[in-house]
Amino acid sequence: MTADYKLLKEQLVALIETENDALANCANFVGLLFDGIPEINWLGIYVLRGDQLVLGPFQGKPACVRIPLGQGVCGTAADSMQTVLVDDVHQFDGHIVCDPASRSELVVPLSINGNLVGVLDIDSPQPSRFSQSDQQGVETLCDTLLRSLERNLPDPGKFI
Ligand code: SME
Repeated sequence: MTADYKLLKEQLVALIETENDALANCANFVGLLFDGIPEINWLGIYVLRGDQLVLGPFQGKPACVRIPLGQGVCGTAADSMQTVLVDDVHQFDGHIVCDPASRSELVVPLSINGNLVGVLDIDSPQPSRFSQSDQQGVETLCDTLLRSLERNLPDPGKFI
């Protein structure tokens, strides 16, 4: 099953276009995607604080709070500033287990004005849940959120 990324983008724009509070927009972004992407068990934002990723708005079971840059799937995506798509988390060296039910994972780095501010992490209980079209759809949604935050953030150096 795939998500309707075109519809999700329209819904996202409607949710965030009249609001300039970054935390509120990130919280609604997470709620919208968790509800609209089938067969996932966790979705959330980790925010870059110093050299660590710290748990931010999310949906799913409580998760690990701090991930050092370079560690786990999230820290690898953040370090390389490249999306990481993992078909089988058991095969990813250094994967950090938060919910043992998770089998595949998609992590998209988030940057504002070219600076890394965090990552979006999505977990699924299905192996190989995420396709290239999921990656592209999710990256487009992240871009929509981030460009809107770029326009609205009173202090461009501060995220959430
Ligand atoms: N599995 C992630 C940790 C975060 S949880 O999945 C919510 C990782 O290896 O970075």
